[in-house]
Amino acid sequence: MKILVTGADGQLGMSLRKVACSYPHHTFVFVGHRDCDITSRECMERWIEGVDAVVNCAAYTAVDRAETEHEAARRVNVVGAAVVAEVVARSNIVLVHVSTDYVFDGCGSRPYNESDAVSPQNIYGITKAEGEMAVMASGARAVVIRTAWLYSEFGHNFVKSMLRFAHEGKAPNVVNDQHGTPTYATGLACAIMTLLEHDVDGCELYHYTDGGEATWYELAVEVFRLAGSTLCVTPVGSADYPTVARRPQYSVLDKSKIMSAGVEVRPWRETLRECMNILLN
Ligand SMILES: NC(=O)c1ccc[n+]([C@@H]2O[C@H](COP(=O)([O-])OP(=O)(O)OC[C@H]3O[C@@H](n4cnc5c(N)ncnc54)[C@H](OP(=O)(O)O)[C@@H]3O)[C@@H](O)[C@H]2O)c1
Repeated sequence: MKILVTGADGQLGMSLRKVACSYPHHTFVFVGHRDCDITSRECMERWIEGVDAVVNCAAYTAVDRAETEHEAARRVNVVGAAVVAEVVARSNIVLVHVSTDYVFDGCGSRPYNESDAVSPQNIYGITKAEGEMAVMASGARAVVIRTAWLYSEFGHNFVKSMLRFAHEGKAPNVVNDQHGTPTYATGLACAIMTLLEHDVDGCELYHYTDGGEATWYELAVEVFRLAGSTLCVTPVGSADYPTVARRPQYSVLDKSKIMSAGVEVRPWRETLRECMNILLN
């Protein structure tokens, strides 16, 4: 299979580049924002030639900034998703599109499954939910994967910020009342490859994160512990750490469906250790 990866310089794109060597029977074409703007139909049509599948990792992911940059977020997450899906549908190839736990309001108390109603609480979540709908309405053969709390050895993310604090000897305050699941982007990249190797017919929605659940505070404590720091992270409530965009209090995702499709889900502490080993060496 020849696989085009858009948004290839972001965390997930870089993670797909990393795992690509484990899939030598496929050919990968990685394109970053500069060479392929997903909001441009002409650009997408050019890059899609001769390709069997597209993995769309491109997104506007600045959750707080989106509250004041509605149009910029909408342009990538809604218009871009729609353009990619329409071009894919016309070429009758397969699309993997990535979405987020922030499509949920977080008022639940059991893991969200794929049939639960979406009710996003911030602009980023609203644009991602509309992007999902655009993909589903396009008629493309597609897999939409919602994920959460991504981190990796690439780009900027919470784990790398906490590690920097630990190295600088700073003990941060971290919110302890938002529950979700930290997810190593390498695992998501492998999950995408597993799904791509199935026959994709119609449009399927899946949830994928690492296993278990945590608060941001619990994740920070684990990063400090693995970094060998004896500093104490302080747990605080969301009210003590106001952010521009409202976040869901609870956004654990139910992974039963994707596990039935043969995708492995590993406990978040185990995958974190793996990433930390790379970051610390
Ligand atoms: N990060 C998380 O915690 C998280 C959680 C849940 C779901 N997700 C979803 O997972 C997916 C991957 O996220 P990520 O963490 O890898 O994001 P990321 O690191 O922010 O990467 C996104 C990439 O998309 C590129 N991009 C932006 N606009 C584009 C456009 N018009 N055309 C082409 N490329 C464009 C960005 O380039 P520039 O930097 O040049 O703009 C960036 O390289 C996204 O769909 C995201 O919504 C992420």
